[in-house]
Amino acid sequence: MKNKIVAGNWKMNKTFPEAEELLVAIAEGLDDMPLETDVVICPPFPYLEMAADVSEESNFSVGAQNVSDEKAGAFTGEISAAMIKSAGADFCIVGHSERRAYFKETDEVLAKKVKRLLEEDIIPIFCIGEQLAEREANQHFQVVEKQLTAGLFHLDAKEFERVVIAYEPVWAIGTGRTASPQQAQEMHAFIRGLIEAKYGTEKAYNAYILYGGSCNSKNALELFSCQDVDGGLIGGASLKVEDFIEIINAAETCIKND
Ligand code: 13P
Repeated sequence: MKNKIVAGNWKMNKTFPEAEELLVAIAEGLDDMPLETDVVICPPFPYLEMAADVSEESNFSVGAQNVSDEKAGAFTGEISAAMIKSAGADFCIVGHSERRAYFKETDEVLAKKVKRLLEEDIIPIFCIGEQLAEREANQHFQVVEKQLTAGLFHLDAKEFERVVIAYEPVWAIGTGRTASPQQAQEMHAFIRGLIEAKYGTEKAYNAYILYGGSCNSKNALELFSCQDVDGGLIGGASLKVEDFIEIINAAETCIKND
């Protein structure tokens, strides 16, 4: 039986006091849950240390949303993997579609970021997913295959087993237009097949492939029940305590029913 992972991507939201309030409320919500799901909260950089402090008394892990591809030095405004680790984060989102689109992050840079994170023993949550026009042109498998192979397949098998993948179709992010369970399952199975061809059956089975894109308390159970969906990367709904806890509950239900 495999656990699920539910990660919350707060994106660029919340001030310091608001972030503290939300973290404490989530910790309280998780308090009486005998959790089998791995919960990860990815707040903006300034709140990593605070999140790590709160997490010590709770049962969630902390992740960053981005990292520099450089190790250290004269890169004004950048944040290194070592900084993230020393602030208490064990995960980091890489290659989110918003970073690919707005900050022009290329496959090459993302592949380097993944390496930097692994050097610091941080688990990358590597995001892949096609845009609407690509799906409509029936190119979604091709696009996802390219992102996966270019971003992760430079890793050896030992490195690869420390990576989490998140399939986030761009057309589903923040739009309320969730992928159907069939669409999610189809793509997740495709991704697992690519992993199997490259790293073998065991690594493919063990790989975590999360779904992201308008995942909420209403649709999480159906999505997480799909055979190849190992949890979710949650945006908007991770900012609302009750919704986030309900999504985690959906993951728990799936683990128990497995
Ligand atoms: P929403 O859940 O708000 O659609 O965002 C998904 C996402 O981008 C998570 O990384």
